[in-house]
Amino acid sequence: MSERTERERTEPERPGAEHWVPNTASLDRLRAAVPDCRGCELWRAATQPVFSTGSRSARIMIVGEQPGDREDREGEPFVGPAGRVLAEALAAAGIDRRDVYLTNAVKHFRHELRGKRRIHARPAVGHIVACRPWLVAEFASVSPEVVVALGSTAARAVIGRTVRIGEVRGVLLPPPNDGAPSAALPAPVLVTTHPSAMLRIEDAADRERGIARLVADLRTAASGVAGRRSETERC
Ligand code: URA
Ligand code: SF4
Repeated sequence: MSERTERERTEPERPGAEHWVPNTASLDRLRAAVPDCRGCELWRAATQPVFSTGSRSARIMIVGEQPGDREDREGEPFVGPAGRVLAEALAAAGIDRRDVYLTNAVKHFRHELRGKRRIHARPAVGHIVACRPWLVAEFASVSPEVVVALGSTAARAVIGRTVRIGEVRGVLLPPPNDGAPSAALPAPVLVTTHPSAMLRIEDAADRERGIARLVADLRTAASGVAGRRSETERC
């Protein structure tokens, strides 16, 4: 058996989701298969998996981190407080929800128990990697024209390596081209701050500024779609 690093020893055993992801472009079939996934241990403590919302014809794919407490109970992504911030930012950016496919990097809610309360716990890199085959299948099915990664977990999942948000945020990055898994993602990527960060900003003026930047980033992403479309129209 190969030696495991200290970090890996503290991380879960994780075969990864690959074995459970059906070879299909049908979102309904993918969705129906997620509850069986045992690609990592997160399914154990979660109520249910949270897959995605939106259709294959959406041109903008937005990737969040993982379901929160509300999402875990309702089975839908972004139905809690962060989802409200995102919905308002999308509306302010003039983005039609029908053009958005919304999903998460990790499909089960990772949390810790404090008494009866379930406290959000960030997914480890191992969980992001384990769950990525679902995301790759979604890229292939939806073929978005642009992908928006909300926060560092989503950026890690979409780009396939760790990036500093401050260094990459707000610009359309070329399609990640780092080998086979990303070959399924021939679309530019825009990384921005996770909307839940806005909920933690106490100062009202700072929060307004944060939301304005999020809206501006979403507009940039949408302009990537319009630009690509006019390019193809010209041909
Ligand atoms: N935060 C996320 O990243 N995803 C959700 O679905 C809800 C909150
Ligand atoms: Fe499978 Fe992802 Fe859930 Fe882990 S978090 S069990 S990889 S669906």
